[in-house]
Amino acid sequence: MAAGAGLLVLLAGAAGLLVMYSGVYDISAIEQHTAPVYRALEIGMRNAVRRRAAGIETPPLDDEALVRRGLRCFHDNCVQCHGGPGIAPADIAKGLQPVPSSLAQTARDWRPAELYWVTRNGIKMAGMPAWAYRMSERDLWATVAFLERLPHLGVREYRELLDTVAEEACMQPEGEHEADPRRGLAALRQYACHGCHRIPGIRGPDVYVGPPLERFAERAYIAGVLPNTRENLVRWITKPQSVSPLTLMPDLGVTEAHAHDMAAYLESLR
Ligand code: HEC
Ligand code: HEC
Repeated sequence: MAAGAGLLVLLAGAAGLLVMYSGVYDISAIEQHTAPVYRALEIGMRNAVRRRAAGIETPPLDDEALVRRGLRCFHDNCVQCHGGPGIAPADIAKGLQPVPSSLAQTARDWRPAELYWVTRNGIKMAGMPAWAYRMSERDLWATVAFLERLPHLGVREYRELLDTVAEEACMQPEGEHEADPRRGLAALRQYACHGCHRIPGIRGPDVYVGPPLERFAERAYIAGVLPNTRENLVRWITKPQSVSPLTLMPDLGVTEAHAHDMAAYLESLR
């Protein structure tokens, strides 16, 4: 029995390696996943969300101001991928695989805590971004409050409600004070710094568009211009082009608090 089971595991492992190294699995975003892969991913995702959302307490969501606030966040951050009543998703979303589905019926299938968890954390390998680093707690819940309302809105109701909503953009997370290197590591990932830099502790592309940030604590200067102090590092991270107007490094909209966290992490690299 045990030998048979062992052999089966070995065979499955060998088949997996064969698929991986031969390149036979079609990763084209024009072709769909095969039906078993699609189902496996879907079931795995649903159960992972259910499990992680189980302990989350849902605040009251029927406040009208909260729903309106949520519409602002939804209209600015979600419509380009998921579309809205009478509104098509943008071209980048049409080419995604799996396709971001309309959220018009999502609130019927998912509990509010699950919607909150997905919006906050995103879904790996699916193109669903995490919003935790771009939205405050209140605005995450406001978005959920709006998703609960969405199934009841036609095109006209959506437009009318949108007309009553303030222009003020969705809030970034509130500042926290004590800089924390662990939070900094997550923030470096969530602002996509490893799209240009090699950063110890982050698995990412082998890219050298910006200098590798290894042993950052031992550097005397930041980008060759600023003495390497906490204050200067925060300044560079939040406004690189105010220091070097033609630097390739863009202003990534990093909040002051997140920049302090990132700096604490970079300063720990020696
Ligand atoms: C860059 C595109 C993109 C943006 C922007 C985006 N999503 Fe998604 N979203 C996806 C994709 C892709 C999936 C996964 C689809 C799947 O597996 O069914 C997804 C899945 C979801 C799901 C799970 C429900 C389901 O039916 O799969 C929810 C809920 C969700 N998104 C909410 C949001 C909210 C709220 C926003 C705005 C704050 C948002 N999304 C912004 C791409 C996006
Ligand atoms: C589009 C590519 C790009 C992205 C994205 C990017 N950087 Fe940079 N970064 C650069 C380049 C290029 C330089 C070199 C600038 C120079 O020397 O003028 C640089 C320099 C730096 C430096 C100074 C390095 C040194 O050796 O002195 C730090 C620190 C840094 N970046 C941090 C970050 C952080 C944190 C993020 C994410 C918030 C980030 N970068 C995102 C391109 C990028």
